[in-house]
Amino acid sequence: MEVTIIDPSVKKLDLEDQDVLARLLEIEHETFRVHGPLYDISAWGREQFLLPLERKLDFSLLICLSEVVGFSIAYEFRGGWAHISRVAIEPAVAGRGLGKELLTAQLAKLREAGCKTCSIDVRMDNVAATRLYRKLGFERMRDAALIGYVNERGRDPEEYLSTEPSHSAFQLYL
Ligand SMILES: CC(C)(COP(=O)(O)OP(=O)(O)OC[C@H]1O[C@@H](n2cnc3c(N)ncnc32)[C@H](O)[C@@H]1OP(=O)(O)O)[C@@H](O)C(=O)NCCC(=O)NCCS
Repeated sequence: MEVTIIDPSVKKLDLEDQDVLARLLEIEHETFRVHGPLYDISAWGREQFLLPLERKLDFSLLICLSEVVGFSIAYEFRGGWAHISRVAIEPAVAGRGLGKELLTAQLAKLREAGCKTCSIDVRMDNVAATRLYRKLGFERMRDAALIGYVNERGRDPEEYLSTEPSHSAFQLYL
């Protein structure tokens, strides 16, 4: 797809808007089709996207060209600590600066809301996402910080703490 990005905009995700929800599911499935397990074990369905409504999240953002082309979902894990649980840019328009723009806006939103730390998980072999997070200032958690994180978030220790971990956790002080 030939795309010229003229004026991307970032706005808050409104999951009550059925068109937005349908578009998120499309992007999610396309992202999973293209990136597969680099992204997640399986694509999220409607219920997972609707979870933020139950949690009353305020940090979920969309990035739009003429239509929605990506999203990020963040929530406050506990006082002052935000976690970004999803970020995706539609494959057809990836690599054009939109992911960076979206996450920059997401981090600003978290900062404004008083969050002090933000975490994000990624598969070790997800080069694009890892580079993007480092570019934004995220640093890989190690040692005691990583162990604390894995315990507190209830992650599988094998995935993060084994000699050849499949996942890494990144953190940014906001
Ligand atoms: C990760 C993702 C959100 C990046 O979005 P994007 O719009 O393609 O990224 P950008 O164009 O803003 O690129 C920002 C930086 O990311 C890195 N990057 C992006 N695509 C890359 C690629 N294919 N290979 C290596 N680095 C890449 C680069 O450092 C880039 O900065 P640079 O171009 O100045 O070097 C997107 O690739 C995606 O949706 N991937 C699938 C879903 C996923 O893996 N999500 C994260 C885990 S939940």
